[in-house]
Amino acid sequence: MAGTAAAISSATLLIAPKSAPSAQIAEWAILSRAVLTGQSYAAGFPSSFYAALRSRHVTAFGPGRVNLIGEHTDYNDGLSLPFAIGERVTVRGDALDARRIEALAADLGEEDSFELDDPQPADGWRAFVRGAVAELRRAGVDVRGAHLHISGDVPRGGGLSSSAALEVALTLALIALGDGTEPQRIELAKICSRIENEWVGAQTGLLDQLAALFGEPDKALRIDFRAMSVEPVPLELGEFRLIILDSGEAHEIAASGYNERRAECAEACVQLGIDSLRDATAEMAALLPDPLNQRVRHVLGDNERVDETIAALQRHDLRQVGRLLDDCHESLRDNYEISTPAVEDAVRECKRSGALGARIMGGGFGGSVLALMPPTATPPAGAIEVRPSPGAEVLAND
Ligand code: GLA
Repeated sequence: MAGTAAAISSATLLIAPKSAPSAQIAEWAILSRAVLTGQSYAAGFPSSFYAALRSRHVTAFGPGRVNLIGEHTDYNDGLSLPFAIGERVTVRGDALDARRIEALAADLGEEDSFELDDPQPADGWRAFVRGAVAELRRAGVDVRGAHLHISGDVPRGGGLSSSAALEVALTLALIALGDGTEPQRIELAKICSRIENEWVGAQTGLLDQLAALFGEPDKALRIDFRAMSVEPVPLELGEFRLIILDSGEAHEIAASGYNERRAECAEACVQLGIDSLRDATAEMAALLPDPLNQRVRHVLGDNERVDETIAALQRHDLRQVGRLLDDCHESLRDNYEISTPAVEDAVRECKRSGALGARIMGGGFGGSVLALMPPTATPPAGAIEVRPSPGAEVLAND
């Protein structure tokens, strides 16, 4: 691999990895001097030199996410307002000198191992690891052999997007062990979503991956999926709290009605002669048969509720935020029809505990309920508080 000194930061160059042989450290010194004196290097160094630049031990973190409002809008070119949470998946990667991937899902006590040049489809968590390797390679990332130790505290099946947390942590660890060049994060979100679409069988949009990759402490993210823009929005709740209550009914996107909802939205577009539901209007929705008209009404309503929620947050009108959460739930239950009796019980429990608003969150058909609690209310037993937290990161250990 040939390169120019300018393509690599001088900070990287001045610190040779502990593992680099002495001949390479000499080359290091030459290249570092070139960087500092502004000379450029068109001549290639041997690939062993670049191999030694790579980290051999990395740790990557992918957070779960909560979506404040704007549900089932991502694959309709709409708007959402998610944030990354403190619960996260951790992938510790150690380079191997063979072209193999060995993976350990520590929380499950399960292992996998495959040739990195030929990942084959698999089920469960293994599909994510194989998909991560295959999709990174397809995107041109130089993946190398590794042992991956996976652990985490994002509840699985709870609607907090443990899947995206895993995809993001896996891809960041594999990139850092490779040549370390991270694609733009929007591109990385698309790679992660292809893992889910092609390898796991869930036709999800980009909400979860963008939230995990762009999260910031004390901020929600206004995502416009048509413009593909991500804008941090202050989420200052004072003494109010956002909580998550698990309905106890695990949801698994690939096996739920999620793909069917997505197909219904696509069918609505065909019947209306538009490219995406972002171009739909209430008048257009009224022309459609049941249940397509209801699906479109939900998407239009939630797009509006995203900006209404941002306006209410700017006015510190948290009661209005609560009302918008309730409206969103009503629409997801009655128009989008993704609620279940267990979810309705969880919503009622939050409201009985004094929640200003409560709604089903994420893909639906089970999973968790999000509720906004005023300062004086005691959350229901089993609820966890969620706070906007930093997005995904990767540390090179050496
Ligand atoms: C799941 C999917 C997302 C999004 C939400 C619903 O979390 O992974 O892409 O569609 O459901 O808003």
